[in-house]
Amino acid sequence: MYRSHNCGELRIANTNTTVTLAGWVQKSRDKGFMIWVDLRDRYGITQLIFDEARTDVSVMEAAKSLGREFVIQIKGTVIERESKNNNIPTGAIEVLVSELSILNESQLPPFTIEDNTDGGEDIRMKYRYLDIRRNPVKNSLLFRHKVTQEVRNYLSNLDFCEVETPYLIKSTPEGARDFVVPSRMNPGQFYALPQSPQQFKQLLMVGGMDKYFQIVKCFRDEDLRADRQPEFTQIDCEMSFIDQEDILQVFEGLTRSLLKKFHNLELGNFPRMTFDEAMRTYGNDKPDIRFGMKFGELNAVTQHKDFAVFNNAELVVGIAVPEAASYTRKQIDELIEWVKRPQVGASGMVYVKCESDGSYKSSVDKFYDQTDLAQWAELTGAKAGDLILVLSGPASKTRAQLSALRMELGNRLGLRNPEEFAPLWVVDFPLLEWDEDSARFHAMHHPFTAPKKEDMHLLDTDPAKVRANAYDLVLNGNEIGGGSIRIHDKETQALMFKHLGFTNEQAQEQFGFLMNAFTYGAPPHGGLAFGLDRLVAILSGQETIRDFIAFPKNNAGRDVMIDAPATIDRAQLDELSLAVKV
Ligand code: AMO
Repeated sequence: MYRSHNCGELRIANTNTTVTLAGWVQKSRDKGFMIWVDLRDRYGITQLIFDEARTDVSVMEAAKSLGREFVIQIKGTVIERESKNNNIPTGAIEVLVSELSILNESQLPPFTIEDNTDGGEDIRMKYRYLDIRRNPVKNSLLFRHKVTQEVRNYLSNLDFCEVETPYLIKSTPEGARDFVVPSRMNPGQFYALPQSPQQFKQLLMVGGMDKYFQIVKCFRDEDLRADRQPEFTQIDCEMSFIDQEDILQVFEGLTRSLLKKFHNLELGNFPRMTFDEAMRTYGNDKPDIRFGMKFGELNAVTQHKDFAVFNNAELVVGIAVPEAASYTRKQIDELIEWVKRPQVGASGMVYVKCESDGSYKSSVDKFYDQTDLAQWAELTGAKAGDLILVLSGPASKTRAQLSALRMELGNRLGLRNPEEFAPLWVVDFPLLEWDEDSARFHAMHHPFTAPKKEDMHLLDTDPAKVRANAYDLVLNGNEIGGGSIRIHDKETQALMFKHLGFTNEQAQEQFGFLMNAFTYGAPPHGGLAFGLDRLVAILSGQETIRDFIAFPKNNAGRDVMIDAPATIDRAQLDELSLAVKV
């Protein structure tokens, strides 16, 4: 038996018992006649004491040789501490050591294994196994486990069945690039790693599984951000004989139960907003509704007043920044520079100070009088003391720019409280989205999403107007999940492929198996997938998913610990028929 207790377990009630513990040396303090060692394992820290007067000389000597991160096993007696440490659960006791064995030595770690470490991001990623010993990382992984377990239980209790789908598949059109895997046995041919198990879960519905879920790795070769990793995990679900409302209810229930379990929050029905409304009021399809600053469209009250910039703009839109009328010229200039950065891309910004005496002072006083500005204030919801910021230009770009500014100000003004949770369903997404590069429509969600029946007639005449039975769950300004009701008949699916620019032959070649399956009695079905990494991060009040993944990739998509991706040798390339012929 390596240990009788773990390092987080002993309390005053254990006094006078003999225990065996094992773990890592967090740190030791050597006073010559007395040595204290903090022994750490996953469960906590226990203070060990070696005392010249009570401990064997040989044990004393071995204790003196201990370095940070040595792995040791000790036997000793639990005693009450003279000076207690109320900051840790074992702080009332210490273990007077009688036997010590060094199970393994350790080199000096490249950064301190403390909550606040001196190690930078790169070095911690390179030695991720050491980083995992630190509480913040370890606790994130433990939290992820708890969330995952809760999700599994919740769905299993509702009769969802977890089914594994293959990782070596054919390219799926989810919008990102595929990671591909060459096939040795089929020279010149490739598998693709799934961007999601979308088609397989639909086939499981055709197979009669009725309610499916899977906590599953997905792979997307896309540019990385704080909330994106090339391999990430979905809570992937699909249900048969349901409509959109059934799905929203099930996954709202799941989210509500997670918020209750982990934050003791009792949330009512989640609000819903159409995609159009989200874009118009927040400039964004995943609005953070923990704070206001809703968009006020100002075209009607700003145009035809000799201000050419606004007259020529498709959209003039503003927000009211609470209590910011007192900003100095320098502060406002800094905000103007912020929106002009290439990442945001605005060409300029107009401002109005709503003074406490009810008057207005704006950067465009030459063109607009007090009555005009009062209308701006009304449309943006500005009160005395607020600052109105206005952008103009092409509608969708301007909305995106103002949305970026709104989020930045939300962060700066501390309005994005990590302890507050504001879920929101965004519904009625457009079915199709115009892609400038390829000059054709793409499926906004994926090509299996069902158009709304009442919009079907617009498919030929005004495809951009067709809405889909597609929905996203947004939590605190992050898209944590998305899904749709699917097409389940061959004709509609073929029509969709046609509108997406596939010829019959191309559709048959890529999706023949799915369309064929639809001819054998496919039930009406739909589903949704949550991003587990995002869900866990946001439930922890954070937005960087890397911290919740045991072995994540860096921003260049590299695993710096194992040094991947890497080249492979000529023989391996040959075997895969990939070697460049010379
Ligand atoms: P979607 O593409 O919206 O839908 O993905 C579902 C959820 O997965 C998460 N997610 C990611 N998380 C981390 N890194 C990434 N690169 C990444 N990409 C997506 C998001 C997102 O909401 N098959 C459909 C689901 C369905 O229709 O049922 C799908 O994959 O939280």
